Amino acid sequence: MEEIEANRRAWDERAVIHRRDATGFYRLDALRAGRDPLTMIEAEGLGDVAGLRVVHLQCHIGTDTIGLARRGARAVGLDFSGEAIAAARVLAAECGVDAEFVQADVHDARAALDGAFDLVFVTWGALPWLPDMARWAAVVASLLAPGGALFLAEQHPSFVTLAEEDGRLTPHYDWRTAPDRPVVTQETRTYTGDPTPLRNTEHHSWDHPLSEVIGGLLGAGLRLTSFREHEALPWSHVPMMRDGGDGLYRLPEGMPRMPLSYSLRAEKPRG
Ligand SMILES: C[S@@+](CC[C@H](N)C(=O)[O-])C[C@H]1O[C@@H](n2cnc3c(N)ncnc32)[C@H](O)[C@@H]1O
Repeated sequence: MEEIEANRRAWDERAVIHRRDATGFYRLDALRAGRDPLTMIEAEGLGDVAGLRVVHLQCHIGTDTIGLARRGARAVGLDFSGEAIAAARVLAAECGVDAEFVQADVHDARAALDGAFDLVFVTWGALPWLPDMARWAAVVASLLAPGGALFLAEQHPSFVTLAEEDGRLTPHYDWRTAPDRPVVTQETRTYTGDPTPLRNTEHHSWDHPLSEVIGGLLGAGLRLTSFREHEALPWSHVPMMRDGGDGLYRLPEGMPRMPLSYSLRAEKPRG
């Protein structure tokens, strides 16, 4: 799919900038010094992963894969960006962490990875790069051992339809995207604040309603065992959001409370 290939080029270019971390967005020096990259949303939803076979899909430069490995997981990170995977391997070595990294499109993950996993870990800004939730869910199900689970944490599809205009949140974006009609965005800089101009400025993304995410998982034979909504998100979607100092941003006091993100667990039944 040409859109996926264009996205891969764009992520390759971003990964080179992100691994330098000139703006400190990824706090890589703190990670090397032992910082836990997972927020309380993942930490609370994950449970004990020590000894589990865990695959982290769309692992980017491997920060959260490192967090999983530090919790004792036998962690494998997968991403389609060769630059991201190269960066992840260096970062894991610098952190003294034993983790494996594989370059592959998520849609080819079953063929690219050996064996079955106890946990598939997918978080924050992963699903918008995938056109079809039923297809993605089938890949997740194919990776899980019987009794294994997906942990997913993502931006809330309702919240990301909103934009800030004159200090108010107003509906601005569609809540769903057809697989064959991606949202095409031009970005001349990456989101970390690094001023390096991008050559691959165009990317393609898809907004997925919760019904498609959950429906896809149920359709792939998984059982939803937990679903939570959160008043926090690990990035500032609108300028009014406040940095909580815990890796999470929230709406300011006085704004109506609303879910900014969600997390869920879905299990593959035994037998
Ligand atoms: C916003 S980042 C995800 C960050 C992630 N939560 C983490 O642990 O840092 C999105 C990642 O998805 C990857 N990606 C996008 N489309 C993909 C695909 N079709 N297959 C594999 N990786 C993909 C990109 O290369 C990028 O590293």
